[in-house]
Amino acid sequence: MFSTRKTINHDPFSFLKILVPPTIIKAIYLCFVASVVSLILYFAFSNYSHCFTQHHNVVVPTIFNHRTITTVNSSDKTNISHILFGIGGSLKSWNKRRHYIDLWWKPNVTRGFVWLDQKPSSNMTWPETSPAYKVSADTSQFKYSCWYGSRSAIRIARIVKESFELGLENIRWFVMGDDDTVFFTDNLVTVLAKYNHNEMYYIGGNSESVEQDVLHSYTMAYGGGGFALSYPLAAELVRVLDGCIDRYDKFYGSDQKVQGCLSEIGVPVTKELGFHQMDIRGSPYGLLAAHPVAPLVSLHHFDYMEPMFPNLTRIDSVRKLVGVYKMDPGRTLQHSFCYDLSRNWSVSVSWGYTVQLYPSLVTAKMLDTALETFHTWKSWKLGPYTFNTRSVSSDPCKRPLVYFLDRVESVDGDETLTVYKRYVQKGEKDCPQRDYIPALEVQFFNVSASSFNPNLWNKAPRRQCCEIVNGGEVKSVAQIKVRGCNRFERATPVKKVETL
Ligand SMILES: *[C@@H]1O[C@H](CO)[C@@H](O)[C@H](O)[C@H]1NC(C)=O
Ligand SMILES: *[C@@H]1O[C@H](CO)[C@@H](O)[C@H](O)[C@H]1NC(C)=O
Ligand SMILES: *[C@@H]1O[C@H](CO)[C@@H](O)[C@H](O)[C@H]1NC(C)=O
Ligand SMILES: *[C@@H]1O[C@H](CO)[C@@H](O)[C@H](O)[C@H]1NC(C)=O
Ligand SMILES: *[C@@H]1O[C@H](CO)[C@@H](O)[C@H](O)[C@H]1NC(C)=O
Ligand SMILES: *[C@@H]1O[C@H](CO)[C@@H](O)[C@H](O)[C@H]1NC(C)=O
Ligand SMILES: *[C@@H]1O[C@H](CO)[C@@H](O)[C@H](O)[C@H]1NC(C)=O
Repeated sequence: MFSTRKTINHDPFSFLKILVPPTIIKAIYLCFVASVVSLILYFAFSNYSHCFTQHHNVVVPTIFNHRTITTVNSSDKTNISHILFGIGGSLKSWNKRRHYIDLWWKPNVTRGFVWLDQKPSSNMTWPETSPAYKVSADTSQFKYSCWYGSRSAIRIARIVKESFELGLENIRWFVMGDDDTVFFTDNLVTVLAKYNHNEMYYIGGNSESVEQDVLHSYTMAYGGGGFALSYPLAAELVRVLDGCIDRYDKFYGSDQKVQGCLSEIGVPVTKELGFHQMDIRGSPYGLLAAHPVAPLVSLHHFDYMEPMFPNLTRIDSVRKLVGVYKMDPGRTLQHSFCYDLSRNWSVSVSWGYTVQLYPSLVTAKMLDTALETFHTWKSWKLGPYTFNTRSVSSDPCKRPLVYFLDRVESVDGDETLTVYKRYVQKGEKDCPQRDYIPALEVQFFNVSASSFNPNLWNKAPRRQCCEIVNGGEVKSVAQIKVRGCNRFERATPVKKVETL
């Protein structure tokens, strides 16, 4: 996060009209890779890489005792006050990045600090709406030998230790993130509350780009997506971290140095699908529109992707998503599929973000596969990713009509109405085929849904169902109801569905 990286600006939402044949794209990539991507640049694009060189240090096993935890009443449910955030910042990036933090930080509710590399000048007023800052301790005595990296990785890795050593009361979880990580804190609490904080847990997610996971690690929770350490694990880590920092001096990133240490303790990462490192380039649309059935916990890397919403800046896009999230945290980005079998329409709702209308019958398996509107992080290739994708056709007759969140309203306190408006890319041609004509009349989707009960996340996950309420008479507004599925209900696009 401290490397200077350029984002290639191209037309946002150009994915809606990909007209370049794949062979030309391949040729462009080859040129790009050959001429531009020197090894240094290759690594500079990575936040969390480490040297190829393997370690041959003899690692002395650390003996640790089982501790008795006395600080918390374990029968109380975990809430936001039990989390201590440690945000890796720097004075230089602060003024730019604070706008992302301010979107999720709740003064006097969220606890934690942004850790800076130096003290802000005394004439700088620190905003009350931001987390208070702390200045990281000097790290000059530590070894760092990753030639293309930055020593700041040591400082960031030690945030968990410095946070722990503050000795704050009633902390169950230490959550680390970058200054461009946005946490959806209600969902973070929901996820962490599932786990016994008196045991040693390390919770987070991988990189989306396989090239990153292959090069760096599949067994690491990527720091930009954020990760959580339970109190007893943090306590154990803190005892040995400084030694690990010297042992893993060749690792580039802070998250890898921490994971090296956790590997010595023997605690693997518990993967949660809602943590998003967002190691992708281009438009995040396809990924966000196909979120797994898991609460949205974090997003990252906004400055390296196109804005999430068309017509909006990056920060306003995040503001919009955070705004709708506040109306129904657990439902944010959750997927539902419904069919109008009298017209052969398929509808995919990604709550709070987008609706796709297909004037054909599309299987659920297809709908839950992400449209590949993005490239990999390091080499800007078309995959592979840690999830399946399908390509976006250049033919408007093979693409859905796309609607983006326009506004959200609260209805009767425990229901929401989200309205999605058709988005047409500038210069984009409508499909002239007969089956598209009635679909093209639909300008809005009105989606009503009851507030998502977060307790559902403690049960076996299941995608919710939806129905088109005004089926036959849809004109310019299609009315959708999202709800839990009935016992024998399925998203099956055929008329006669066997019920038993
Ligand atoms: C722990 O919490 C439970 C339920 O909230 C309560 O009954 C009990 O008295 C608490 N114990 C202590 C030591 O605070
Ligand atoms: C969180 O739980 C603690 C008990 O561990 C309680 O004292 C506190 O009021 C709760 N805070 C919130 C914000 O719910
Ligand atoms: C936070 O709490 C302090 C002390 O109770 C108060 O002075 C301050 O105004 C609060 N800040 C915000 C942003 O609510
Ligand atoms: C703040 O102080 C620094 C030096 O201490 C100075 O360079 C800068 O111009 C000052 N900024 C303002 C806004 O006064
Ligand atoms: C829907 O598709 C089926 C075949 O999949 C076809 O028989 C039927 O005529 C179509 N209905 C409409 C309204 O297009
Ligand atoms: C985007 O802006 C264009 C023109 O400024 C407008 O016609 C269109 O409705 C906007 N789209 C959305 C989704 O707000
Ligand atoms: C859709 O929602 C809007 C409120 O934003 C409402 O005015 C309109 O009547 C709704 N349309 C339908 C068909 O329900």
